[in-house]
Amino acid sequence: MDIAVIGSNMVDLITYIDRMPNAGETLEAPAFEIGCGGKGANQAVAAAKLGASVMMVTCVGDDVFADNTVRNLQQAGVDTRHVKKVTGVSSGVAPIFVDSASQNRILIVKGANDRLLPADIERAAPALQACRLMILQLEIPLETVYAAIDFARRQRIAVILNPAPASRELDIAYACQCDFFIPNETELEILTGMPVDSEENILRAGRTLLEKGLRNLIVTLGQRGALWLTGDRVEHVASLPVKAVDTSGAGDAFIGCFAHEYVRHGEVLQAMRQASAYAAYSVTGKGTQRSYPDASQFLDFITAQQQGK
Ligand code: RIB
Ligand code: NA
Repeated sequence: MDIAVIGSNMVDLITYIDRMPNAGETLEAPAFEIGCGGKGANQAVAAAKLGASVMMVTCVGDDVFADNTVRNLQQAGVDTRHVKKVTGVSSGVAPIFVDSASQNRILIVKGANDRLLPADIERAAPALQACRLMILQLEIPLETVYAAIDFARRQRIAVILNPAPASRELDIAYACQCDFFIPNETELEILTGMPVDSEENILRAGRTLLEKGLRNLIVTLGQRGALWLTGDRVEHVASLPVKAVDTSGAGDAFIGCFAHEYVRHGEVLQAMRQASAYAAYSVTGKGTQRSYPDASQFLDFITAQQQGK
């Protein structure tokens, strides 16, 4: 196995809106879509669609969504032997609102994802030991994230920690044990309590994390690409100019593709370039996972971009 994702799955309930209703107001919205999401599952599916061998450790509830979630992971080629079904709780769901400027607002109801425990990592240990890279996010209990990082360190498995959604409770000492720490601007702002309204301020905020011992900080910047800070080095990778339809899950697309590329060749900048392009492709389509291209669709997209089409 190349990659293990220990994290969440959610059912995305996406409503396209002209504006949010006010309290007490009923408002008609133009469209609705249901899709498979969750930051962990999104990242796993992106990497698997690109050809990585990926396993996922995650929990589903005992409702109508559970089987569909497992089937969806399998269809993308993700190994689901360590997906746990929890009785008496709902699957994770995410009501998402996408406005006419293609900006999204996401609510998450963790449901079964809150039942992913350190013991589940122990149970999956024989399979996890054979992985080269582990990806973690924050839609599962923090104690499970910490147990996974401890496990990966003992087994010398590289770790990507995506601190999403942002949590002030995250212990930076654990982040420092990871090979890559990949927040977006909002998450960086919340983690550091510092402004991120200019590139200069982003660098300033980022440096405070490096001073605490972070090895590689990659800040995703949406349509402005991504920044990589390591030691005294700063690198910026631009994104591709595309017409955005729905930016939901673009950060997950970046991380899934980055992980796949990094496992393949170990070149951080090259992996960031591919990941930015993969995320750009994803914003051109509605939904989260369903807008992720497979390897051949992605290659066509890159080729067309290079030819200036
Ligand atoms: O990052 C996007 C994801 O966040 C959505 O798929 C939603 O499920 C939430 O987890
Ligand atoms: Na999308």
